[in-house]
Amino acid sequence: MPGTVAGIESDPAAAVAISFDAVGKRYGGNDSGAVIALDDIDLRVRRGEFVAVVGPSGCGKSTLLRLAAGLEQPSSGTVAVQSDSVGFIFQDATLLPWRKVLRNVELCAELRGIGRTARRARATRTLAAVGLADFADKLPGQLSGGMRMRVSLARALALEPEIMLLDEPFGALDEITRLGMQEELLRLYRDNAFTALFITHSVSEAVFLASRVVVMSARPGRIHRVIDIDLPTPRTRDLRFDPAFTALAARVSASLKEAS
Ligand SMILES: Nc1ncnc2c1ncn2[C@@H]1O[C@H](COP(=O)(O)OP(=O)(O)O)[C@@H](O)[C@H]1O
Ligand SMILES: [Mg+2]
Repeated sequence: MPGTVAGIESDPAAAVAISFDAVGKRYGGNDSGAVIALDDIDLRVRRGEFVAVVGPSGCGKSTLLRLAAGLEQPSSGTVAVQSDSVGFIFQDATLLPWRKVLRNVELCAELRGIGRTARRARATRTLAAVGLADFADKLPGQLSGGMRMRVSLARALALEPEIMLLDEPFGALDEITRLGMQEELLRLYRDNAFTALFITHSVSEAVFLASRVVVMSARPGRIHRVIDIDLPTPRTRDLRFDPAFTALAARVSASLKEAS
């Protein structure tokens, strides 16, 4: 609806980066075999905000992200993204095994047509930002899973995106690596000031990272509740032992249980 987009623009104080208005997504046409992946989704992600989405498997989290990415179109309603500068990170690092790390980091910028000198400079900088400056000449196969995910982060950051869409990026990592990556992501978020929409099925990950947590229910995928995470920033490792953190995690868990 054009009116919705105009509404966003006329209210710069509440600048919205991503909006879902009455969004539905159905796969497989109108017959009885159709799946309603998302139903009546209303969500606004403000510019600079970090929103995490949790929900049971199959509740439409990835669909939500693919809609924001423009990889799919909604069956009903409107998805509006107020920037064309968008980076994606998926659970798999999806590096090209034959390209050295630095050349992998350059890849998206290369596909966007950014010139060689500029993209090499950006790739070198973002690789250093994720702590892998010394691994520029390695091949992906020579890195650990956590390091490969950092390369994937560096590759997305090299586009200097205003919006980051992340679909369970740390889901395949072991617990210790995962906690380190969460802190690293928050640091990159502070330094680069992007808007983040982050999918996870980990309650503690959502609470640690986000300023708001969206809890979804399944079949059909709907927003069950949105919980504000008013924890102090910058968030450090110790926060996970703070009673305020534990209380919020318990609230999100309880909502998730209601929704399942
Ligand atoms: N391309 C597709 N074609 C048909 N059904 C799909 C497709 N993608 C997802 N689905 C279905 O839509 C629902 C939501 O999927 P998805 O968004 O992947 O959920 P989640 O990421 O929360 O696990 C599931 O029932 C899934 O099987
Ligand atoms: Mg998914």
